[in-house]
Amino acid sequence: MPSITDFDMKTARMRRFGVWRYRELLPLNDKVTPVTLNEGGTPLIPLTRAITGSFRVYVKFEGGNPTGSFKDRGMTVGVTIAKSIGVEGVIVASTGNTAASAAAYAARAGLKCIVVLPRGAVAKGKVAQALLHGAEIREVDGVFDDALEDVFTEVVMNGGRKLYPLNSYNPWRLEGQKTIAFEIVDELGSAPDTVIVPVGNAGNISAIWKGFKELYSYGLINRLPRMIGVQATGSAPLAITWESKVDKLHVIENPQTIASAIRIGKPVNWLKALKAVKESNGAFIKVTDDEILAAMRMLAVLEGIGVEPASAASFAGFIKLANRGLIDKDEVVVLIATGHALKDPDIILSKIIIGVP
Ligand code: F0G
Repeated sequence: MPSITDFDMKTARMRRFGVWRYRELLPLNDKVTPVTLNEGGTPLIPLTRAITGSFRVYVKFEGGNPTGSFKDRGMTVGVTIAKSIGVEGVIVASTGNTAASAAAYAARAGLKCIVVLPRGAVAKGKVAQALLHGAEIREVDGVFDDALEDVFTEVVMNGGRKLYPLNSYNPWRLEGQKTIAFEIVDELGSAPDTVIVPVGNAGNISAIWKGFKELYSYGLINRLPRMIGVQATGSAPLAITWESKVDKLHVIENPQTIASAIRIGKPVNWLKALKAVKESNGAFIKVTDDEILAAMRMLAVLEGIGVEPASAASFAGFIKLANRGLIDKDEVVVLIATGHALKDPDIILSKIIIGVP
């Protein structure tokens, strides 16, 4: 049976780093030249002071990617495809991180980039990045879901020929993001018991689950983790759908949370994500904004790990599950910390009062 170590040895010879180290597990042939910033290869950091008990909890710090979020993993694959099929540019709707990432990778590829943002609802750091990398910014009144509708319309109008859509309904994005699972297994030597992921448009949790399932089907791991999706209370279409036990999305028309990255009421990948959570014996849970801020503060003050609010939702979710006795004593848990603290300086300055929590 091949092991993940054998796999490493083989790909190491190709001298690739991060996402492209797993090229053999990405659906792209060798003739395509990657548009890459050496994304991936992010640290898996054990928590030492912010938790008590005999759990082993790790933070997969996706803020360590080139533009500061996990989006770079998907964008390297998506923009590589966009360039290889000869489009003029790419277009995304975004709560911010996708915009920052698309702008940077489009710049690297020499492609035009249009980002459609909900007006006044995107963290400053992310807008600044999109501008820095030369994206054209369009603002729409409403929330992310309205911005995504605009992208659908735009793409239908031009037949997808000129502007390539790079939101997470694009399967290539998810192919890149599944490498989070590969890296976790490479580092731990096996699959963890539980993976906790903040959920917005629900692409990432689906992608990570796909990654684990692939490793399992290749015999590289012998068990699968349970996937826990965390949403903010005021923006929890999937958590509410999960509680209802009916496979029909409970749309939230006007989602509210300080975690602007996951302020999404109609997640496009909802069915895929629901399937992932069900198959893995996991769950969707909700955390309040106060719990998110407390978790963000604890990671920062007790562990030196700076994450944006949406990312802190995974630690807030862990605390909730642990307090309810839903994490077993010796479990290995991985929290996906999706984006860097610097993305949203306003929240730090207005809401995080630094001190011992
Ligand atoms: N965490 C952060 C920091 C994000 O930026 C996002 C999504 C998520 C979690 C949720 O991931 O959508 O795959 O469930 N941000 C998107 C954006 C929507 O436009 O940047 P998801």
